[in-house]
Amino acid sequence: MSSKDKRPDTKLVHGGRRGEWLGGMVNVPVARTSTVLFEDVASMQAAYPPRDGTLSYGRNGTPTLWSLAEALTELEPGAAGTRLYPSGAAAVSFALASVVKPGDQLLMVDSVYQPTRTFCDLGLKRYGIATRYYDPRATAAEVEALLSRTTKAIFMESPGSLTFEVQDVPGICAVARKHGVTTLLDNTWATPLFFQALPRGIDLSILACTKYVAGHADVMLGSVTATEAYWQELNRTARLYGQSVGPDDAYLAARGLRTMGVRLRRHEDSAIKIARWLQDQAPVAQVLHPALESCPGHEYWKRDFTGSSGLFAIVLNDVDEAAAARFVENLDLFGIGYSWGGFESLALPVQPKRTASTSPPGPIVRLHIGLEDPDDLMADLDRGLRAIA
Ligand SMILES: Cc1ncc(COP(=O)(O)O)c(C=O)c1O
Repeated sequence: MSSKDKRPDTKLVHGGRRGEWLGGMVNVPVARTSTVLFEDVASMQAAYPPRDGTLSYGRNGTPTLWSLAEALTELEPGAAGTRLYPSGAAAVSFALASVVKPGDQLLMVDSVYQPTRTFCDLGLKRYGIATRYYDPRATAAEVEALLSRTTKAIFMESPGSLTFEVQDVPGICAVARKHGVTTLLDNTWATPLFFQALPRGIDLSILACTKYVAGHADVMLGSVTATEAYWQELNRTARLYGQSVGPDDAYLAARGLRTMGVRLRRHEDSAIKIARWLQDQAPVAQVLHPALESCPGHEYWKRDFTGSSGLFAIVLNDVDEAAAARFVENLDLFGIGYSWGGFESLALPVQPKRTASTSPPGPIVRLHIGLEDPDDLMADLDRGLRAIA
């Protein structure tokens, strides 16, 4: 069966499993190497310029890396290839670095993951690239009105970090295409399983594989999947800056990918159940979960997504930041810590930083619903909420 005939869950299991890389094993071997030896000088020279599928030097890739990259590429119909990076943050930076140049302007969604914002404000600025932030609730026409002669790219993150506004990604891509502007999406929350980015018009789709792909809170890894028009420059930029990943990390991410479908659906079911229950709790003013009507942009989620993952936020009523911290500290099953997408539940008071839009009033607590029994998690949240009631 050709890859394009397989459904996404089948691709998760079979993607990247080429006979010549696996040699009959179910999993790809962990290839640890820097040096690759050649039979003669001619075959060494023939291995350059580096290309996937031909061993040349450790940094240029091994079957362990190629297999994961290919499996991720297969999840995005129309993709030409995927590059791997040592973290999600590196994937964001190098996706942008492959697109913008001095003098360009970047339109960046205001609800973006904070380190992405810092990269724009400090890193891109250093190279003479200006960033203009836009409201995550902006319609495609409103984004179009912001385009200027120097706008080179529009970056989206949907739903946004911390406040979960869902964007009109296809609409914004359509106006971008009309004006010859490149589109990038941080698709970490949905993964290609719940939102296929390239078929909806995105040129470069970014994943922090640290989250749901790896899925076990034990790996830092990122990926960028590109269309044909952007693949060569993405690849070239990654090579130029010496980007590669370790084989153990790639192996763990590939292992996580095989079970991502069942894990995500369990995260989804538990998170929706808990989010609905939270809507009825007195100390909760608003639940920011894309699958609920109370979330800005819910209509786009309903139109474009095939599921929702385990990360959302609540806005608390009538309490101060100290009470939000007390709520989180009174939870037993939810850990206090950064990241998400692993098997474990997490809770974090967060303070969104905005310059082009406003975030909901009141303390915000971000929750990651893990793979525990949702009834135990609700009992835990109930105890925490009673501590601030
Ligand atoms: C939406 C989003 N994008 C990117 C990243 C960065 O990923 P990493 O922590 O692997 O650098 C994160 C990390 O929390 C994230 O939440």
